[in-house]
Amino acid sequence: MTSFDLTARDGRARLGVIRTPRGEIRTPAFMPVGTAATVKGMLPESVAATGADILLGNTYHLMLRPGAERIDRLGGLHRFMNWDRPILTDSGGFQVMSLSDLRKLTEDGVEFRSHIDGSRHMLSPERSMEIQRLLGSDIVMAFDECPALPADRERIAASMQLSMRWAARSREAFGDRPGHMLFGIMQGGLERDLREESAAALRDIGFDGYAVGGLAVGEGQAAMFDCLDYAPGFLPEDRPRYLMGVGKPDDIVGAVVRGIDMMDCVLPSRSGRTGQAWTRRGQVNIKNARHADDPRPLDEACSCPACQGYSRAYLHHVFRAGEMIAGMLLTWHNLHYYQELMAGLRAAIAEGRMAAFEADFHAAREEGDI
Ligand code: GUN
Ligand code: ZN
Repeated sequence: MTSFDLTARDGRARLGVIRTPRGEIRTPAFMPVGTAATVKGMLPESVAATGADILLGNTYHLMLRPGAERIDRLGGLHRFMNWDRPILTDSGGFQVMSLSDLRKLTEDGVEFRSHIDGSRHMLSPERSMEIQRLLGSDIVMAFDECPALPADRERIAASMQLSMRWAARSREAFGDRPGHMLFGIMQGGLERDLREESAAALRDIGFDGYAVGGLAVGEGQAAMFDCLDYAPGFLPEDRPRYLMGVGKPDDIVGAVVRGIDMMDCVLPSRSGRTGQAWTRRGQVNIKNARHADDPRPLDEACSCPACQGYSRAYLHHVFRAGEMIAGMLLTWHNLHYYQELMAGLRAAIAEGRMAAFEADFHAAREEGDI
């Protein structure tokens, strides 16, 4: 009921499609983040119109508010948020570590207090699998732990090994659920041998897809790319590879060139709400005074509603005035730009011109905003 097919390669870059009962995911894929059962500022049909095949949701946020059992009673996350295409849910461990208060980590799992109201909760591999089942997630992530960097090698090794024991428990608790996929998460920081050990442990357990976790946590792009030069090669060729929490447009291009098939990031939606736009020519801060009298669109080559109907001057004005439409328009533009980038990458892989695509991508950014 689910499958992954690779249809073309160019160097290490891969073109493929994940098939699920809720629809196809064209890879390389970018997943907009819908943490709290909404991609902030966007109607689901608008997110679909940008070209997104799949959204990311969060176990951590949804278990705290409105609660997984409540979403289940209301027909599941797809129906609750009015999105009928595939949803991938993160497993919660990573968000507990970054967001919650008073965490207590044991072999069994993690106890914590809600960052919303201070209430006590616990997450374990078994509870995370249960919550993701109640949500109706199409792609379920194994429950893992990711140490905050910088951390020493002993701490990274011990954390990775705990995550691998949790990966085995996640696999066991997930069971056999036709139509749903379970992805394992590789850890190991920037240590090559630990990445290799982690990948071997995950392959032994056996997953429908494999994520590279523990990156984009402050190590910088060069260090992340060094890791991506070898880490994807430790994973099975015939399964999707998902780089978690990445990234800026140049991170995405670099990851795809290194064999990554899926990514997610809050950046296009979050930065849209603060007045940052991403275009072929790099980053634009629409609140900057230089846009106040500019009748041109953000990007004359962009077909999104923000660029088709509005000037830079208008976007600048609504940001300065604190109008709701400001964040809505820029989020739409950013998500559209990200999906156009993914479509461009897919076409380049299909046609064997990834190197030229990459060179053009960097050349346009070097020209800078017009
Ligand atoms: N999001 C970004 N990085 C990670 C990670 O390492 N693990 C999980 N579960 N989610 C992430
Ligand atoms: Zn646009």
